[in-house]
Amino acid sequence: MSPTPEPDHGDDQTEIAARPLIREPAPAKINLYLHITDRYPSGYHALDSLVVFTRLGDTVEISPAEKGRGIHLTCDGPFADDLGDNNDNLVVRAAQKLADSSKQTDVDVAIKLTKRLPVASGIGGGSADAAATIRALATFWELGGDPAMLFDVALQLGADVPMCLGSRARGVCQVGGIGDEISPAPALPYVHLVLVNPGVAQSTPDVFKARDGGFSLTAPLEDPIEETAVLAEALAARSNDLTDAAISLSPVIADVIAALHATPSCLLARMSGSGATCFGLFADPGDAETAAGLLRERHPAWWVRATALNQAFREP
Ligand code: C5P
Repeated sequence: MSPTPEPDHGDDQTEIAARPLIREPAPAKINLYLHITDRYPSGYHALDSLVVFTRLGDTVEISPAEKGRGIHLTCDGPFADDLGDNNDNLVVRAAQKLADSSKQTDVDVAIKLTKRLPVASGIGGGSADAAATIRALATFWELGGDPAMLFDVALQLGADVPMCLGSRARGVCQVGGIGDEISPAPALPYVHLVLVNPGVAQSTPDVFKARDGGFSLTAPLEDPIEETAVLAEALAARSNDLTDAAISLSPVIADVIAALHATPSCLLARMSGSGATCFGLFADPGDAETAAGLLRERHPAWWVRATALNQAFREP
């Protein structure tokens, strides 16, 4: 009698090819306020920031690649041309670091990045992409739950990447340390935002270098807030401590803040991160759309988008 043939599970390639494509949103990160509270001996600064994530963002897609292809990145979307060398992209570095840390033997993976957020613009585009890559590959490689390992990989890639790792689970967080101490924030109203970038790529280290002046105190929100106008008041009592330095390098940022501030129903206009993107805060989605329309009309060269907190956040 001939032996019963082993069931054919296919070779590795067939098994990998059967895996579904994973599509992971990479929400933009907005610093509603950003205090610089100290400087560490490493040269990095201690931050205190209330961070929200938006519906608007990039997208990372992971799919199986041919054997021997390695980590392969392609980019599309309105800002794909502004990305530098693909091999040096934070997405590829995230994939490589995660592969090393989780000791992957098979790293043949195709990554597609759809770049909708302006590059080097203070809304964490690169960090969000890296974090989305880590989340997607953790699923793709079936890494199971090792949040500490994922967090560690994220932090090696940049100070903003760990906060972006949790961007889908929670739409808002309080951030301290160099960006790596992340804690829940009190409940906030479901705010609407208009994001404006004047087309200036701003280098974060240059902005930190240009900053002079002292340090601010930490000022985390203590209590839940229900009304957007009350949130705007609380934020107005805080600041983005990188604004003056960013304006000294790119004076147009002052024009962006003024233009946002001048739109009807804008409750607060401020820069995010190290700029140059600024946001306007609105209570009503219609007001945010109207403001975005006006700004597009007045400043056709600027990138203007109305958005809101991402889906993970509690809607009213
Ligand atoms: O960590 P990441 O590469 O995103 O930081 C870019 C630069 O921003 C750092 O080299 C540093 O100059 C500055 N930075 C800082 N303090 C932080 C975060 C960033 O001084 N907390």
